[in-house]
Amino acid sequence: MSILDSFALTDRKALVTGAASGIGQSIAIALAEAGADVAVVDRDLAGANETCQSIETLGRQTLAIAADVTLKNEVENAVDTVLRSWGRLDIGVNSAGIAIRGHIEDISEADWDRVLDIDLKGIFLCCQAEGKIMLQRGAGSIVNIVSISAHIVNRPQLHGHYNTAKAGAFQLTRVCAAEWAGRGVRVNSISPGHTLTPMTAHAEDETQATWLANTPMRRLGAPADYQGAAVFLASDASAYMTGHDLVIDGGYTLW
Ligand SMILES: NC(=O)c1ccc[n+]([C@@H]2O[C@H](COP(=O)([O-])OP(=O)(O)OC[C@H]3O[C@@H](n4cnc5c(N)ncnc54)[C@H](O)[C@@H]3O)[C@@H](O)[C@H]2O)c1
Repeated sequence: MSILDSFALTDRKALVTGAASGIGQSIAIALAEAGADVAVVDRDLAGANETCQSIETLGRQTLAIAADVTLKNEVENAVDTVLRSWGRLDIGVNSAGIAIRGHIEDISEADWDRVLDIDLKGIFLCCQAEGKIMLQRGAGSIVNIVSISAHIVNRPQLHGHYNTAKAGAFQLTRVCAAEWAGRGVRVNSISPGHTLTPMTAHAEDETQATWLANTPMRRLGAPADYQGAAVFLASDASAYMTGHDLVIDGGYTLW
């Protein structure tokens, strides 16, 4: 196999959560460009259908599946739908997430639960459902979208619940990787830096200016900045890699 062939995802079957928007949408399209059929899973079905249209124009098969990643039965139904349609699941990318701001002394219990539910429990439920199916075949690659917020208390926006959930998702990635390494299933993560998506679009000019001033590369991330890493982690090119977190942040965490 040539080195470039090892990055190909020809006929692989993939599922991407949070793929109606932003980073998840960009990764879903990248997997399809690399040759995979991609199920687009999101609670936003209209957005999921738009992503599916982009995938269809690439000549790949696609499915739009409405699911809330905090609900075990909906996550399991999403994986079952892929299995019924395509017979197997080779790749799972878990990008669904939310961010809510708040100083730690003011965060409401409801906001804490909401962020931890989606950004941590959601990753657990997805890894569990995807991993169970992959373990049966002894093959598969899972990529969790974490954040630099797992590693640093970034600023000026404060969100201690988000930092905590992302740190948990980082460690959960390592736990799954260690437990499944001998059974053919790899689990890695990507930690994006500040990236312009609908999640961050509302950030004040001063906030974005602070992010920019603290980014050595002097630009914010774009969803496409994570496409190469996702294809790499999903593919055989990363066959000996598991439990690793790829920080992709224009150098933000260097300073
Ligand atoms: N944008 C950034 O600066 C940034 C930086 C680091 C990490 N991240 C992470 O990247 C991931 C994607 O973020 P984004 O910037 O693309 O945001 P986004 O808002 O553009 O996309 C998030 C997607 O997740 C979906 N979603 C949210 N809650 C869900 C739920 N309970 N069930 C199913 N789907 C749900 C939304 O409908 C949306 O389509 C998130 O996990 C986020 O924490 C983003």
